[in-house]
Amino acid sequence: MMNPNQSQKALINVYDDELALVRGLSKVIVDLAYVCQQHHGKFVAALSGGSTPIPFYNMLATSEFASLIDWKKCYFFLSDERCVPIDSDESNYKMIHDHLYSKVPVPEENLFKLENPEKDPQKAAELYEQQIRKYCEEENGLPQFDMVLLGLGGDGHTASLFPDSPALKEKKRLCVSNKVEKLDAERITFTYPLLNNARNVYFLVAGENKSDIVRAVLTESESKSGTGYPASLVGALPPRTREEQEEKDCAQTCTVRLCESNSTEWFLDEAAAKGLISQSDTVTSGSQ
Ligand code: 6PG
Repeated sequence: MMNPNQSQKALINVYDDELALVRGLSKVIVDLAYVCQQHHGKFVAALSGGSTPIPFYNMLATSEFASLIDWKKCYFFLSDERCVPIDSDESNYKMIHDHLYSKVPVPEENLFKLENPEKDPQKAAELYEQQIRKYCEEENGLPQFDMVLLGLGGDGHTASLFPDSPALKEKKRLCVSNKVEKLDAERITFTYPLLNNARNVYFLVAGENKSDIVRAVLTESESKSGTGYPASLVGALPPRTREEQEEKDCAQTCTVRLCESNSTEWFLDEAAAKGLISQSDTVTSGSQ
């Protein structure tokens, strides 16, 4: 299967450092939330777990950005969750609550967590899918998130779609529990049908330790084991090239983001983009 991040220019935003990265993404989210709330009265987003997004959540919660968002029209889900109690330090919901939800006036009823995933992962996933279907607008016959924020693991996993895990093959359900052998743990995750129907998929990746996997996901059609990286199969073509985006001011770009469904963008600091920049240098020098 062609890597959707590759067959056309993936839209890649590279920032000098992590601070510039999280500020840049915060600006994009403020504008996208505004455009979505103007367009259909709400902003429905799925947020990522892990450690990379923590500085972003902290930045979005600062008055500089939080004061620009109508939080009562925001609805937040999780693109994946660990099967742990909600008060566990492993819980993605707890991490996002500590760094974002607890600092902004988003109504509690607009925050969606998994119900007792540590007790019955499959039931928790089924109930979550029902909530997703209830709160998301439909497009292409499926619930459509305005934005899904994703991270990238060193093995090319995203959300909790890990290499060789059963959920990679799920074509119907939108949210499933997924046995991750390498972690010897169950995880709850969005599946490709749901992820790939989002209006906007944003990958947030920072740090030199991710530069090799970023390059691999964006430039290799398959991993060394002969299968694709899970992250490579998320998102459809971002029909816009960087030049087209740069011509527009942000409001227009956000409108363009909103209207063209299935746009996938990468938000990287220079350290995470190192493999790409050296690659593009080669390409550039080769094409001179
Ligand atoms: C999780 C995330 C997972 C994460 C990657 C990257 O539940 O951990 O959803 O997909 O985004 O593992 O994690 P880091 O940001 O900690 O490197």
